[in-house]
Amino acid sequence: MTAAWGISSLGNGVIRIAAIGLPLWFIIGLYPQEMWDSAKTAMDRFDVIVIGSGLAGLTVALRLAGKRSVALITKGALLEGASDWAQGGIAAVLSQDDSLEAHVRDTQQAGAGLCDEGVTRYVVEHSQEAVQWLIDQGVPFTRDDNGEGEYHLAQEGGHSHRRIIHAADATGHAVQTTLVEKLHAQSSITVLEHHVAVDLITSAKLGREGNRCLGAYALDRSTGRVRTLSAPHTVLATGGAGKVYLYTTNPDTATGDGIAMGWRAGCRVANMEFIQFHPTCLYHPHAKSFLISEAVRGEGGMLRLPDGTAFMAAHDPRAELAPRDVVARAIDFEMKKRGLDCVYLDISHKPADFIRRHFPTIHSRCLEFGIDMTRQPIPVVPAAHYTCGGIMTDRQGQTDLAGLYAVGETTHTGLHGANRLASNSLLECLVFGRAAAEHILAQDKGEPLQLPGWDESRVTDADEEIVISHNWDELRRFMWDYVGIVRTDKRLERARHRIRLLQEEIGEYYSHFRVVGDLLDLRNLVATADLIVQSATLRHESRGLHFSRDYPHTLPVASNTVLHRPPRRHSGT
Ligand code: FAD
Ligand code: SIN
Repeated sequence: MTAAWGISSLGNGVIRIAAIGLPLWFIIGLYPQEMWDSAKTAMDRFDVIVIGSGLAGLTVALRLAGKRSVALITKGALLEGASDWAQGGIAAVLSQDDSLEAHVRDTQQAGAGLCDEGVTRYVVEHSQEAVQWLIDQGVPFTRDDNGEGEYHLAQEGGHSHRRIIHAADATGHAVQTTLVEKLHAQSSITVLEHHVAVDLITSAKLGREGNRCLGAYALDRSTGRVRTLSAPHTVLATGGAGKVYLYTTNPDTATGDGIAMGWRAGCRVANMEFIQFHPTCLYHPHAKSFLISEAVRGEGGMLRLPDGTAFMAAHDPRAELAPRDVVARAIDFEMKKRGLDCVYLDISHKPADFIRRHFPTIHSRCLEFGIDMTRQPIPVVPAAHYTCGGIMTDRQGQTDLAGLYAVGETTHTGLHGANRLASNSLLECLVFGRAAAEHILAQDKGEPLQLPGWDESRVTDADEEIVISHNWDELRRFMWDYVGIVRTDKRLERARHRIRLLQEEIGEYYSHFRVVGDLLDLRNLVATADLIVQSATLRHESRGLHFSRDYPHTLPVASNTVLHRPPRRHSGT
């Protein structure tokens, strides 16, 4: 029964529990005790498992370095993820003209009444320290041209002051490469690249007393086998879910895995209806997911119709510097009204050397597609960019499940409310990454428990993978069409119906065939889409990023949409 494997450095025998005929307890992730007892195997033990190597995961791991043994698992290469792609920068109160109050106020205004004020203050008050930590690690932020050595602060939509510290227009890459270099010097951190976390292991799933997170199963893509990782503390840092949508600025890793895993393990999930659409993604048939940073509008870029008319002032007095939800809806409105494929972002009135200096990455990427932004406008469209909701956490990054933390875009901390303010996301990763690590260090270290392995004795290799790619395409298209920038009850109902069908089909496929990365991605995408649609259906108003034609007004009292997973029983029900 045991599928022997594990010739890797941490290798061991593992078993996958699965079942032909698909009992419900399998699909929902509850496993009868006797199956576990028959499946005791060797496993990998750590003090802490960190799932994800974006800024959230790296911050937690580096803050724990030397004090705890850490497994940092990541589904691609270390640098794959949204953090490496971040362009504009990190919002922080760094100049004399700025104030904590102003940053808090801007965040709350963008958040449309749903930011948790205590959490917002906490994050903003820690912003300077968070940036200083990055400077201490060696991140080469761009300095001002004035020769005084100060850091250059950029302007972005919704910010009343210049407060975005950045490394030209490739901030994320500068941050991530610096931190990855630090990581390699840490012997207490075991890096497992190309490992996909499949699910969390909890005492409830094992039929044991209470409920605690005990570790995770992870698919080693190089061997195709699933490893069992045991640790008293686990951190979800898996990023967002932009890949739920057909058009997105997000990398392939953004499939909502942490949200889906946390939800399956019993954590509450909040505000999933608030998906942020970035107004300006490059529109070109060969440019997959390339963002044109908001900083381009911050430095004077204008949005224009094909005939050159600037249109933002007609939609909002803040024009190009209105928050993202306003700008994305204005573009969507103009495109639909006029039947346009795209609109244009024009900064060609600025001196060419200014553009090349401030936006070297965007400039050269556009040139690859034959667009010279120093002389011509850039064709742009809105695209799914950021998941404001997620697993609910407290100020220490703790979830509802003992021993499980969550940090970064996978969470709902209360900072972003109904619409995230630009450049507050990297800041959130830094502040909560530190808080979670400190909380873990303040706890009893604990002992990793003996856990059952993964059973793949009754599954076979997939007969045809077309089911995965077909369902993947279908999901992302109907989510774009029905659950996009403008929603209606009817569209949400249509999406809900299709999600049910996909869930059945994917559940069946999952139970019969050996797991592969694409199947795991799809399973999590569908689970996340379901949470988005459930949340959107429950909100009977338009607020922030959620706009419904059936409920165009904003209710006087703002409240979060909190989803609770119904309790599951422990046997084959
Ligand atoms: P990510 O950086 O996405 O990292 C997630 C990690 O989890 C990845 O390593 C991934 O491989 C791994 N992972 C996922 N699932 C699994 C699994 N099942 N098993 C193992 N590993 C898994 N925000 C700002 O504040 N400023 C900006 O300038 C900015 N620019 C942006 C530009 C772009 C193009 C994009 C897409 C986003 C931008 N954002 C910006 C948003 C910001 O980059 C993200 O919100 C932030 O980086 C999220 O960090 P994270 O660590 O939570 O997730
Ligand atoms: C951008 O550079 O426009 C992205 C900033 C963000 O998502 O916060």
